[in-house]
Amino acid sequence: MTDQSPAPYAGPQRVLSGVQPTGDLHLGNYLGALVKFTRLQHETPTFIFVADLHAITEWQDPAKLKGQVREITAAYLATGLDPSVATIFAQSAVPEHAELAWIFDCVARIGWLDRMTQFKDKAGKHKERASVGLYAYPVLQAADILIYKATHVPVGEDQRQHLELTRDIAQKFNHDFDVPGFFPLPDALTQGPGARVMSLRDGRAKMSKSDPSDYSRINLTDDADAIAQKIRKARTDPDPLPEKVADLEARPEALNLVSIYAALSGRTSQDVLDEFAGQGFGQSFKPKLADLAVSVMGPIGVEMRRLLSDPAEIDRILADGAARARAIAAPTMAEVRKIVGLWAG
Ligand code: ADP
Ligand code: TRP
Repeated sequence: MTDQSPAPYAGPQRVLSGVQPTGDLHLGNYLGALVKFTRLQHETPTFIFVADLHAITEWQDPAKLKGQVREITAAYLATGLDPSVATIFAQSAVPEHAELAWIFDCVARIGWLDRMTQFKDKAGKHKERASVGLYAYPVLQAADILIYKATHVPVGEDQRQHLELTRDIAQKFNHDFDVPGFFPLPDALTQGPGARVMSLRDGRAKMSKSDPSDYSRINLTDDADAIAQKIRKARTDPDPLPEKVADLEARPEALNLVSIYAALSGRTSQDVLDEFAGQGFGQSFKPKLADLAVSVMGPIGVEMRRLLSDPAEIDRILADGAARARAIAAPTMAEVRKIVGLWAG
């Protein structure tokens, strides 16, 4: 773990992460986040939630939001999260997240938030018309993490800046209130070949829910035909696959497909090149990648549909998870109220 001198956090290690219920999950979410959750749950106590409070920083149809939360929960379960091992819940079911976020709003500095690139990307040219919530989004994220004193946060590469802010907030809180080591300084777990999966149409853009072209991504709910077709149509270049990974550097689309192959098969990119070097993409690489993607992703979509046919079971899992999460969050919040000197402390 990181050196946190002078007084390191001495509490238990915990893993925490969340995904917003704002659209279909895709291969990037799967490789960058979900597969890591399922792996880590067996090593360290793991808390995985659906970030509905984050979702409403941009307009969500109130009649659809609960269904969207169930869909993400179904994706967690279908990719292997076990509700008897990991704690799975909806963010808004644990009100301590929002309460701690307010305290952190008073710890974080405007200058820190002004540097956040995700806000700039999402707010676009009209930032004065964005919600205050969208601006304060990373502060709520810090509260999500620190209300459980989580030490490790598995996320894609794009979340690294938010984790740095979380560490800054933890450090300033510990310092300002003279409670050294009260909050841990959590580490982002972004390693792995799927940390930044790129669009299938443009090797320089991130694969994203918000890309208008459905051919840019493989959705967790795509059937075998759709997956195979998207890979067949994925952009490449006319050159054959090279012998060395370094030779992929200036070929972003080629690098992306090789990385996806490596991530899905649990092999290294070099290992994949050893098999395909000298061949064109259409020859056997793309058909084999399509088979591999269908074999990994296909069953996830089937299982999600099965789970969603029984929403009451999903709701039961979320209620149980929320009770377990609150049992940890409530005592932390009580300590924070005391530390800050609030009337209610
Ligand atoms: P999106 O960017 O598609 O809206 P989210 O912001 O909801 O997705 O991301 C949920 C999780 O998936 C986060 O941990 C994020 O870092 C990860 N993630 C999103 N897109 C990618 C990608 N293209 N490659 C790797 N990880 C990703
Ligand atoms: N901001 C994350 C995303 O866009 C979602 C998220 C909210 C999150 N709270 C979190 C991730 C806490 C990790 C930990 O994907």
